[in-house]
Amino acid sequence: MCGITGYIGKNKNAIKVIIDGLEALEYRGYDSAGIAYITDNKLKVIKEKGKIVNLKEKVDLNIKSTLGIGHTRWATHGEPSKENSHPHTVNKFTVVHNGIIENYLELKDTLLKNGYTFNSTTDTEVACAYIDYLYKEEKDILKTLNKATKIFRGSYALGIICIDDLDNLYAVRKTSPLIIAKGDGENYIASDVPAILKYTNKYMLLDDNEIAKISVSDIKVYNDKLKEVTKETYEFEGSYESSMKCGYDHFMLKEIHEEPIVFSNTVNSKMDNLPDFSKYNQIHIVACGSAYHTGLVGKYLIEKYANIPVYVEVASEYRYKKNFYDKNTLVIFVSQSGETADTLAALKKANDDNIDTLSIVNVVGSSIARESKYVIYTKAGCEIAVATTKAYLAQLSVFALITSWISKDKNILKDIDKISNLIEETIDKNYLDIAKQIYKNNNIFFIGRGIDYALCMEGSLKLKEISYINSVAYQAGELKHGTISLIEKDTPVIAIATNDELLEKTISNIKEVKARGAKVIFITNSDVTGDFYDYIIKIPKVCETLQPILTVIPLQLIAYEVAKLNNCDIDKPRNLAKSVTVE
Ligand code: AGP
Repeated sequence: MCGITGYIGKNKNAIKVIIDGLEALEYRGYDSAGIAYITDNKLKVIKEKGKIVNLKEKVDLNIKSTLGIGHTRWATHGEPSKENSHPHTVNKFTVVHNGIIENYLELKDTLLKNGYTFNSTTDTEVACAYIDYLYKEEKDILKTLNKATKIFRGSYALGIICIDDLDNLYAVRKTSPLIIAKGDGENYIASDVPAILKYTNKYMLLDDNEIAKISVSDIKVYNDKLKEVTKETYEFEGSYESSMKCGYDHFMLKEIHEEPIVFSNTVNSKMDNLPDFSKYNQIHIVACGSAYHTGLVGKYLIEKYANIPVYVEVASEYRYKKNFYDKNTLVIFVSQSGETADTLAALKKANDDNIDTLSIVNVVGSSIARESKYVIYTKAGCEIAVATTKAYLAQLSVFALITSWISKDKNILKDIDKISNLIEETIDKNYLDIAKQIYKNNNIFFIGRGIDYALCMEGSLKLKEISYINSVAYQAGELKHGTISLIEKDTPVIAIATNDELLEKTISNIKEVKARGAKVIFITNSDVTGDFYDYIIKIPKVCETLQPILTVIPLQLIAYEVAKLNNCDIDKPRNLAKSVTVE
C-alpha cells in the first residue's frame, strides 16, 4: 500500500535519498509516485502515474536539496492519475499521506465555503487544505497539526513541509504506521523500515496522535497535549543487503530460499512473556489472507494434540460479528506486517472486551505487536515480495511450538532438528516441469483433507495472487457434492495427501477426478504409487506438527514457476499491496 519517505539533512541530496526510499518501498504496491523538495528556498513538486521509473525520468538528481518528501500511492479516493498522486500542495503546506481521512467530505464542504478549490478527488488534498485553513487561525505549525489530529477521523500518516519553516520536516500519525529514522546531521521519515536501511538502521516509532518536528540535528516528538515525549530508539537487525535480491531473479524466490534459516531462527529464538496457556479453555485465531491459512493449520494441530477448541476467523468478519468468549479465552492474531487494518481493528475489539490477546507478528514494534498483551515474533526478516512465503512458514513454525507447549508433549516436535535440511532438500527439487503442465490452464483445483485442506487454501491463494490463474481449494470429500461438474479432460488437480489415516480416502477422491479426465499432480509423503495420478511430488515425511512446513514448499514453488512462465510481475502482482492498511 502507499509508501512515504522524507529527508532533512546537510550531507546528502534529499531527492536521491527520497527516490531510493521509494524504490525500497516498491514492494508494497502502488500506482503512481511523486516527490516534493526544497531548492533555493522554493518548493518543487514532480508526480507521475505508474512506476517510479516514470518519476525518475522527470527528476534532475543534480539539483541540490536538503529537505523533501516522497510518496508512492495506491489509489483509494480517485483513480490512479498524476492529479491524484501525492504530494499535494495547498498554499503554505505540502503533504504526503497514507491511510484514509474518513470525514474528508465534511471538511471539504467547510473549505469550499471558505474559498478553497481542489485539483484532485483525494482526501489527501482536503487534509492538506484543512491544515492550511487551521494554520491561518493558529499561526503555529505544532498547534495546527495538533488541532488537525482532533478533527481528522480515520487513519493517517502524514509527512508535512510548511514553506514558513524550511528548517523542519513535520510528521503526524494515527493508526497508519510511520517511523522517524536517525542519521548523523540528517534525519528521515518513512512508512516502513526498508525505506531507510540504505542509510541508517536506527529508528523510532511515532505513536497515535503524536507530532514529530524534525530538523537536521534534532527530533522532537510531542503528544496530543503538545508535551514533549521521550522516544525509544530501535536498531533494525537485518541489513540493507539482506533486503535486496542477492542474485535471485525475484524476491519471492530469494525469500523461499531463506526458509531453512527462518525456520531455525524462529524456533530457536528467545520467547519471553508468554501467556500461561494452561488457563485457556478456548482459543480464537484471527487474521487475513495467508496468515488466516496458518491459523487453520494451528486450529487442526491445537485441537488434535492439545484438545482445546479453536475457532479461526477472517479479521474483516470477526471485528463486526458477535464473538463468544470469556476470561478463559485467548485470542491469537497473526500478521506478517503487524499493520493489517482489519486484524488491528479486531485486536482492539478484543482488548476493549478485556480478553487476553497474543499476536504472532514479524515486524518488531508494529502496531499489532504493540497493542497485544503478549507477542511472539516470527524471525522471517524483511519480506519484500507481496506474496508471503518465508513469513508464512515462520507462522506455521510458531503454531507447531504453541501446540507442543499446550499439549506439553515434546514428542510431537521430535523431527525439529532435521527440518532445516529437509526444507532445503524440498526447495531444491524441480518444479518447472510440473509448472509447464499447468501454466496455460484457466482453472486449477487443489484438493486435500484435514490439515492438507488448509495447505490447499494457501497453495490456491499463492497461485491466484501471482499468476492470475483462477484456482479453488476444496476438501477432497466435498467435491462430489457439486464442484466435480467442473472437472473435464486435462483440468489440473493438485491433490495433497500427507496424513496416513486419511490417505486411502483421499486417493478415492483423486480417483473420482481422474475418472473424469483430470490431470492429477499428487503431493505426498507416503510411498504409495498407482495409476491415479499423472505426476507425483514426493516430500519428506516428518511428524504431523511440522509436516505443513514441508508441504507448503512445492505449492510456493509451483506458483512461482507458473507465474514466471506467464511473465507475471511476481514480486509486485497487480492490484495487491504488501501491507493492507485500509479496511
Ligand atoms: C499473502 O501472500 C498475501 N499477500 C496476503 O494474503 C497477506 O497474507 C494478508 O494481507 C495478511 O497480511 P499480514 O500478514 O501482513 O497481516
